[in-house]
Amino acid sequence: MNNFHDKVIYQAYPKSYKDTTGNGIGDLNGVREKLPYLADLGIDMIWLNPFYPSPQNDNGYDVADYTDIDPMFGSWDDFDALVEEADKHGISLMLDMVLNHTSTEHTWFQKALAGEKKYQDFYILREAQEDGSLPTNWESKFGGKAWSKFGETDKYYLHLYDVTQADLDWRNPEVREELFKVVNFWLEKGVKGFRFDVINVIGKDEELKDAEDGVGKAHYTDTPIVHDFIREMNEKSYGQYEDIITVGEMSSTTVEHGVKYSNPDRKEMSMIFSFHHLKVDYKDGDKWTTMPFDFNELKTILDEWQSGMAEGGGWNALFWNNHDQPRANNRFGDPENYPVETATMLAQTIHLLRGTPYVYQGEEIGMTNPNYATIDDYVDVETHNAYKSLLENGLSEDDAIEIIKEKSRDNGRTPMQWDDSEHAGFTTGEPWLKVPENYKTINTTTSETSKKIRDYYKKLIQLRKDMPIIQEGDYEAVELDHPSIFAYVRTYKGEKLLVLNHFYAEEDSIDIPKELLDMESSYLIGNSGDRELTSTFKMGPFETAAFLLN
Ligand code: NOJ
Repeated sequence: MNNFHDKVIYQAYPKSYKDTTGNGIGDLNGVREKLPYLADLGIDMIWLNPFYPSPQNDNGYDVADYTDIDPMFGSWDDFDALVEEADKHGISLMLDMVLNHTSTEHTWFQKALAGEKKYQDFYILREAQEDGSLPTNWESKFGGKAWSKFGETDKYYLHLYDVTQADLDWRNPEVREELFKVVNFWLEKGVKGFRFDVINVIGKDEELKDAEDGVGKAHYTDTPIVHDFIREMNEKSYGQYEDIITVGEMSSTTVEHGVKYSNPDRKEMSMIFSFHHLKVDYKDGDKWTTMPFDFNELKTILDEWQSGMAEGGGWNALFWNNHDQPRANNRFGDPENYPVETATMLAQTIHLLRGTPYVYQGEEIGMTNPNYATIDDYVDVETHNAYKSLLENGLSEDDAIEIIKEKSRDNGRTPMQWDDSEHAGFTTGEPWLKVPENYKTINTTTSETSKKIRDYYKKLIQLRKDMPIIQEGDYEAVELDHPSIFAYVRTYKGEKLLVLNHFYAEEDSIDIPKELLDMESSYLIGNSGDRELTSTFKMGPFETAAFLLN
């Protein structure tokens, strides 16, 4: 098996990475231009969000053609040049496969609408229930109901996301064949990795019924047939290659399924993204609320996934940020007063865990939420739906925008801050999404703060390459109920790595267990200078420290 445990993956959101044409939208040549920057960081693979032709109703996750490039992002020559030049830097590409749904502009959906039975069978079409209500009571994840009228017919099509994202019927073998062809197409283009969008919702129940909870997740999430579909995809596409890395994006999954998806013996995927640790600031499970994050809950979840996946031979993708998340610096730290400490502590917390770390563009320089003043500054469809529904529920515009500022997906989608020139050096035109105001103090070129954070990331990335204990060590939490510190130990061949991460600004201390203190300790890395391990170990604001114990 391909061993990817020493690798670190970088996520570039092409639309916001670097614009080389002046149209305000990032492009493939922009990613290519920044390859030396990425090589310098030390990453091994770049995950690129969708750049396929798309009406962009969900920023490219509404794919209209799986095997082409939207001219907005570049040409085939640009793509080939990117693959070739990245390879020279020892970097490979991971593409986003959005195989649960197509855009309603995809030719399959258009042919279905035009009456072609073959393509109608590609989607999930149902008639209304006898009483005239929708085929099921399921909700769309972007708000509203999950069914819309299918053209002029008396049928409805299922869309778990936006109304322009129609769910494919994976139970139809012809659909699977077509989708596997897509994966093979990109493999032949030299792509070495895939991130499969919401792949654990592809297996809808055979008979679709109203959900007792009125939401419906249980009828399509982690159903037994999903595993069959993924194994088949593995067998017929990437499984035929030696060195492909795959990661499944898993909506509301469990450790039990996480193990199944990622244990190599099952031949499904290399690893998975799960999201429970990023819901610890949702009041009563509702994202569109604000509350300080629940630290205890955060640690419990990280611990459960670390221990559970290790026990079952599964593998976690490790991450705080992506294009769907507000910036972790704002959620879990204090980027105003402690930008370097916050960013490096968060980085160290996950980079030294068991799994594969993902660095989302800009986190390596300490980027933050933009704090836009009005709803008109936001572009994201989910954000606008949420804003409308908050107002409908009686919130004032001011209260609603406060929630949007903290929770919108656009928080993570702002243009990359390259320098302190206009629009942060991202574009010479008007950026499609406004650049955060702090680009003069946070950017890759002139900012001391960003430099410190980036240097720290480089060290962490290099440590993973150098140290088998980081790649392969077992994981165990230390004093899991500590109120402000998340501490853990990795163990490998008699050696231990103790990692201490303090999540708050007030000083605190942790009692180090005797069996660890009895070992020879040497300081490995931290954000507050060389430290010595003492029985009561004091930690400053957002401090992180790691010790090797023999
Ligand atoms: C998850 C993607 O990350 C997100 O951006 C998208 O809106 C949904 N899947 C639907 O494709």
